[in-house]
Amino acid sequence: EGLPVYRNEPFTDFAIADNRKAMVDAIAAVKAEFGRTYPLTIGGNKVYTAETIRSVNPGNVDETVGYACKASKAHAEEAMGAALTAFETWKRAGAAERSSYLLRAAKLMRERKHGFSATMILESGKNWVEADVDTAEAIDFLEFYAREAIRLSETNEHRPLVAIPGEANRVEYIPLGVGIVIPPWNFPLAICVGMTAAAIVSGNTVVLKPSSLTPVIAHRFFALMEEVGLPAGVINYLPGSGAEVGDYLTKHPQTRFISFTGSKEVGLRINRLAAETSDGQIWIKRVIAEMGGKDGIVVDETADLDAAAAAIVASAFGFQGQKCSAGSRAIIVDDVYEELVGKIVARTRELEVGLPELDFPSGPVSDPLAFDKIMEYIDIGRGEGNLLVGGHKAEGNGYYIQPTVFSEVSPKARIMQEEIFGPVLAISRAKDYKEAISIYNDTEFGLTGSYYSQDEGRIAYATQEMHCGNLYVNRKCTGALVGVHPFGGFNMSGTDSKAGGYDYLLLFTQAKLVSRKL
Ligand code: SER
Repeated sequence: EGLPVYRNEPFTDFAIADNRKAMVDAIAAVKAEFGRTYPLTIGGNKVYTAETIRSVNPGNVDETVGYACKASKAHAEEAMGAALTAFETWKRAGAAERSSYLLRAAKLMRERKHGFSATMILESGKNWVEADVDTAEAIDFLEFYAREAIRLSETNEHRPLVAIPGEANRVEYIPLGVGIVIPPWNFPLAICVGMTAAAIVSGNTVVLKPSSLTPVIAHRFFALMEEVGLPAGVINYLPGSGAEVGDYLTKHPQTRFISFTGSKEVGLRINRLAAETSDGQIWIKRVIAEMGGKDGIVVDETADLDAAAAAIVASAFGFQGQKCSAGSRAIIVDDVYEELVGKIVARTRELEVGLPELDFPSGPVSDPLAFDKIMEYIDIGRGEGNLLVGGHKAEGNGYYIQPTVFSEVSPKARIMQEEIFGPVLAISRAKDYKEAISIYNDTEFGLTGSYYSQDEGRIAYATQEMHCGNLYVNRKCTGALVGVHPFGGFNMSGTDSKAGGYDYLLLFTQAKLVSRKL
């Protein structure tokens, strides 16, 4: 009997009073667990460490969401050992069995979805909708990759090899080995779940090193996998410092692959370290990296300007611009420039900044380092464009920054070239749509982009010319849906992996051909 057809998890409508009440209750329940300590888990063993990582609510820095135990290199070595041991059994479990854990986890996560979302509201500063979408995406990844693993195991039925007389030939996608999974803090559930689930459902075992900013939500996922009975050692939960534990595991001779999502700087460092062969290493490590973006929305004079303004503001300021897909640039043709900038400014002014648990449209940025870096870019922006909205710290006991818009920014300006990862939008003027598209392409990144137009010829031109992994037409450039919009970019945005797409699991497998003479 087959699985039901995959469908995206619906988003919650918080206009419905019952749903609002459920979220308020979930937030209270998470707060009741504030301050707990979460152990490392290595091969099923709980390990408490003297040193811990304090996970802070970025919206109210007096609140400690929890303490994560902090791994040393010795713990990392133990975790590698546990993952290697578990691999010997797990690699022989069939796709159906491995998928069943994901499906059970998806079911429980769906039942408790507001709990997961509430943890993110308090630990990462997401508003309700952003958190709900993150949880929905996590459920989607579990459901989607469960089906993908089964599909991959049936490759020979779906895509038979060319037949020749006297032989039976088949291809099997077998796992790689032990992987190091290093997810980001900005989709602290969805991307953590997606990266981990893809790796394990393909038959690998992993050391999961969550971001030090969001270890509690990562633990919540890890605990769910324990609850559904995932064998010990398949996922080892190991928070720790990137420089210490991350580097150690990346260089480890028995690491077979590293799956990373985060900044360009860290991604390139991992790629470099992984390329050096350690003593005793008998393979070339695989690096799957999803890095930054300097994504943008291009608008020509035929576009629906209200729709474009709404999309530009949503893409720039959703989750305070802290998405690799964030539309931090808008490139607008001269004819409609003033009119559209006016609409963007008006909509940006409506974004009230405040506490995530009270569901303000804009909340805090992640941490003090990010806060300082963004404020520095705002200062740089003052010298590179006209400040139209924002430009300052915002009120609140956290890392709040006003949504900020600069206009008349030159395409080569730093705020048009460098990823800020905060609520800062740079707008450039172009003489026509072709120039606008070439400005769009003038970055080292290539993750997402949108083109707004009602002219079929120009849409065709933009479709061909805009160089990005995810190109959207007349739609915002954030919010890719699993299975619907396989997600991942070009150039410095990463290794062209497509999360939530039909090719993704291939990255975690190797193909073995078995040819038998009849
Ligand atoms: N998948 C997210 C989006 O599309 C970014 O990681 O916004």
